[in-house]
Amino acid sequence: MKILAISGSVRRRSTNTALLMSLQAIAPSDVAIDVYASIGELPIFSPDFDGLEHPDSVKQFIAHIAKSDGVLISSPEYIRGIPGGLKNAIDWLVSGEQIIGKPIALVHASPRGDDMLAALRTVLSTISTCFNNDLLLRVPVMNEEPERVAEILRSEANRTKAEAFLSDFSAYCKQCAENLDGSSIDNRR
Ligand SMILES: Cc1cc2nc3c(=O)[nH]c(=O)nc-3n(C[C@H](O)[C@H](O)[C@H](O)COP(=O)(O)O)c2cc1C
Repeated sequence: MKILAISGSVRRRSTNTALLMSLQAIAPSDVAIDVYASIGELPIFSPDFDGLEHPDSVKQFIAHIAKSDGVLISSPEYIRGIPGGLKNAIDWLVSGEQIIGKPIALVHASPRGDDMLAALRTVLSTISTCFNNDLLLRVPVMNEEPERVAEILRSEANRTKAEAFLSDFSAYCKQCAENLDGSSIDNRR
């Protein structure tokens, strides 16, 4: 199972990136988490790119999405909304088919930021038929340093919660893949 974990923060000592990397460290051996913290390398999306060859950074980002069985996103809230860089990354995905049936769930590193979560839920349920609104791993580590974020995630209660979340998300990814296979078989009849 390959999971792409996208951080919505490009801050050098980001708690969201650290939380995703800590999840990567505790994931079971059959779940490979690839942390993508490079949204800052993507140019600003424009529909003028339609039909043109995409810049390399965009091609790589889309290839990461395409080869993943599921996507996790962890993002800060900026001015009660989705950070521009993350929204820009998502905008790049709308004209391709890679994201359409992709299982997606949210991770959250702050005790606040519910306006951003609500906006992200609206966006993600629009771009993918397999966005899971019920799965959320919230570990409030705002203002902590990355090393401390890893320690907090390894504490017994958080680790148990995180392992259950990864197990639920993996099962959900498998279920979505089976449903997609099933519907494509039905469509062929
Ligand atoms: C420009 C800016 C705007 C922010 N706006 C909000 C906000 O509206 N609500 C909120 O809860 N936190 C806000 N924050 C705080 C960040 O969401 C918070 O520090 C987050 O944990 C940072 O994530 P990171 O460590 O991954 O960079 C803002 C921070 C910045 C830099």
